[in-house]
Amino acid sequence: MKIGLLGIGTVGKGVREQLAGREDMGIQRILVRREIPELGELATRRIEDILEDPEIDTVVELMGGMEPAYSHVLRALRAGKNVVTANKLMLSYHMEELLQEASARGVQLRFDASVGGGIPYLYNLMRTRRTDEIFSISGIVNGTTNMILDTMQSSGADFSDVLAQAQRAGYAEADPSSDIDGIDARSKLCIAASVAFGKYLHPEEIAVAGIRNIASEDVLAFKRLGYTCRLLVRAERISENSVCAFVEPTLINPLEPESTVRRNDNLIGLVGRRIGQQYFFGQGAGKDPTAYSVVLGLTEIQAGERPFDGWMLDGRATVDNSQLIHRYYVRTTTRLSIPAEKLRGGGGANLYLTSPLPVDRMHALAASLRLRDPNLFFAGVRG
Ligand code: HSE
Repeated sequence: MKIGLLGIGTVGKGVREQLAGREDMGIQRILVRREIPELGELATRRIEDILEDPEIDTVVELMGGMEPAYSHVLRALRAGKNVVTANKLMLSYHMEELLQEASARGVQLRFDASVGGGIPYLYNLMRTRRTDEIFSISGIVNGTTNMILDTMQSSGADFSDVLAQAQRAGYAEADPSSDIDGIDARSKLCIAASVAFGKYLHPEEIAVAGIRNIASEDVLAFKRLGYTCRLLVRAERISENSVCAFVEPTLINPLEPESTVRRNDNLIGLVGRRIGQQYFFGQGAGKDPTAYSVVLGLTEIQAGERPFDGWMLDGRATVDNSQLIHRYYVRTTTRLSIPAEKLRGGGGANLYLTSPLPVDRMHALAASLRLRDPNLFFAGVRG
């Protein structure tokens, strides 16, 4: 196998290291944004040098972001090359078109590394679907926010200090807003839910709340209430063509499995009709685990294995978040117009625990209250 590598950032370097010394596959060219003299002849700034090279049969896209990654992947598939990508943002918007293109050209599009880094989660969703029906998926899919929440709650550390630590360790996105605002988690949920339910979701239909506004008063309140806070994703089948799907900081009992997930680890689950609840745990970010998943995809393409069959996804599903109901913790300087218990604490703000309400209602309410209180923070309460 001869590989054209697009991007040589953290994960790209990991792939290069993990392929070193292999005789059955190797990197033929690397697309770079700026000159990297030590790469010598391997480096090129022209995508055509990869797309038009008949010896390159497989493209590994690790540039991240929407463009030019999307155009490059589409062109690579059209040129009859297999593609392996870890680009969750781009896939969450273009998965349908790209999988159809791969299918039409008889090549593979592998995206194992796009959700859960080194954890074999998407692969097992597909496997489970061969003989079972998946009712719901949920879990922790963003390492940066888990590290922030875990460290804030366990050692009282400051939000920005932990974020800087995650950036240094290479977990955080180039623009860490997408981690702390829940967009990275939304992309991953969109991909995983599409795979789980066999219908493509649109990422912008998924409700998302992040942790940008979490403050030390919130951490103190969680402690008093006896909860642990984690950024969770959840999607559940509602009907043949609709699912509920949302990303929220969530307060959970300290004995729940998600509460025990420390630092940047991920824990992602599924519930199937026959198989019941299953969890997959491990390193969801970082150079080596993510590169491991990419190399595994390459190895399976080389072996002719096709776990991601195109027929397993067909048509679109809409998101309906009116059916799922739970309580919410809210910190705001405004007054809540819904039934809620007022909690003590909060510094200059009010803390509330609401009565159960639908997910779509809370997200709409938060959007309107933020016009007057941009620092409002809310979290779902499970159980
Ligand atoms: N920024 C992501 C995270 C990287 O923190 O989980 C892995 O997708």
